Amino acid sequence: MTELTRDVVIVGAGAAGTTAANELKKAGLSVVVLEARDRVGGRLWTDVIDGAMLEIGGQWVSPDQDALIETVAELGLETYSRYREGDSVYVGPDGTATRFTGDMFPVAPETERVIAEITERLDAMVAEIDPDRPWAHEKAAEWDAISWDAWLRAQTDDDEAVRNLAFATGSAMLTKPTHAFSLLQSLLMAASAGSYSHLVDADFILDKRVVGGLQQVPLLLAERLGDDVLLGHAVRTIEWSDEGVTVHADGDLRVRARHVILALAPVLYNRISFVPALPRLQHQMHQHISMGFVIKVHAVYDRPFWREQGLSGTAFSPYELSHEAYDNTNHGDERGTLVGFVSDRNADDVFRVSAEERKERILESLSHYYGPEAKNPVVYYESDWGSEEWTRGAYAASFDMGGLHRYGADLRTAVGPIHFACSDMAGAGYQHVDGAIRMGRLAAANIVEAARG
Ligand code: FDA
Repeated sequence: MTELTRDVVIVGAGAAGTTAANELKKAGLSVVVLEARDRVGGRLWTDVIDGAMLEIGGQWVSPDQDALIETVAELGLETYSRYREGDSVYVGPDGTATRFTGDMFPVAPETERVIAEITERLDAMVAEIDPDRPWAHEKAAEWDAISWDAWLRAQTDDDEAVRNLAFATGSAMLTKPTHAFSLLQSLLMAASAGSYSHLVDADFILDKRVVGGLQQVPLLLAERLGDDVLLGHAVRTIEWSDEGVTVHADGDLRVRARHVILALAPVLYNRISFVPALPRLQHQMHQHISMGFVIKVHAVYDRPFWREQGLSGTAFSPYELSHEAYDNTNHGDERGTLVGFVSDRNADDVFRVSAEERKERILESLSHYYGPEAKNPVVYYESDWGSEEWTRGAYAASFDMGGLHRYGADLRTAVGPIHFACSDMAGAGYQHVDGAIRMGRLAAANIVEAARG
């Protein structure tokens, strides 16, 4: 048995955990980070598949994400813009592909008017939401009791308008069916990015990537911690009292510390035995949080052929299996890469068929945007985070109907020496790396304050 003693033990070497550990170390506290996987980064992971460098998890940085932008700069990483010259493509209800530019999909004028009007209404509601306290809004209970889908359908009976408005926070962000989460949850998602309009603006939300991949953020942060990051040490039991914690991990490891930070998705807290058990409120609350589910599909071609047709690679359709797709060509790469997303019920459906049929169906869907050449990539890969034991879905976790106003205020609150940090409990940067960094900083600041106090 190995026994360690530290001021703080951090569970999870993702962006939140590695940030928290660095902040604590800077403040003069001793730390150790215990990570279940054999790699650092959690939902950030760059790998080479069949000779192609792919970002299997998170990758994009948007201009409002100050905490991430600051960290990327401080680590000396370079960024580059997503390719976006040329026309985008929209596939409508009858399967017709139409080219367009700008944010508004090429829909009938009346549908366009309805989308613009509801977007304005949503922007006004979002402006009233504090992303750090959405439950504090006077209508929080009311807005948490109606599903995103039901609210939209109460605004208009234009089905195409509803589908296009719904998917910005549905398939594209929370990655759950739109009947499965509330209007309030949807407003939080939009408020975390500044406005609903920001979310539907791909040029804003999917602005930049990091040269060499975003996983370098946690990798470089972990490098600064040296031997204080231990891989392959899943935490199984946490004994806790007001005096501190004893954390038991795989590899016959025991760490005593004054505090512990759980820097992992809240859906995984129940993988750990707490002695004594966590309080009733946490037992209840954590059961109302679940992971969304999306497949990130990577298709690499010998060249970015769509650019030759004047296409940017940006494509959307609430009627397609792959509801959105983009040019995801790596910096300086001669080959062309497309990334497409297959979300919630569509993802469930294609995991019921063989891998071969799934690939065929997904590439068929991409071909509706880019033409038949899309069916023949030289490298094809599906990021399947649903089968990853230490994540269990993608992109992130959110409350089910009614859970946000009922429990949201308690999600980040420490329980004795147990602190919580994860992108899935952030305000600004919610469900994004920016939010993970913010939550890592916050948990560390609370511990430093307690240590000084
Ligand atoms: P994260 O889940 O990354 O880290 C938690 C760590 O805890 C993991 O390493 C896990 O192995 C470990 N762990 C769990 N249980 C443990 C235990 N019992 N003991 C020890 N270790 C344990 N964001 C963005 O900003 N831009 C984007 O483009 C995207 N796109 C995107 C695509 C895909 C496919 C995914 C899956 C996600 C994104 N995201 C994203 C979201 C982003 O990746 C995510 O919000 C953050 O990386 C989460 O960081 P955290 O540190 O909070 O959790």
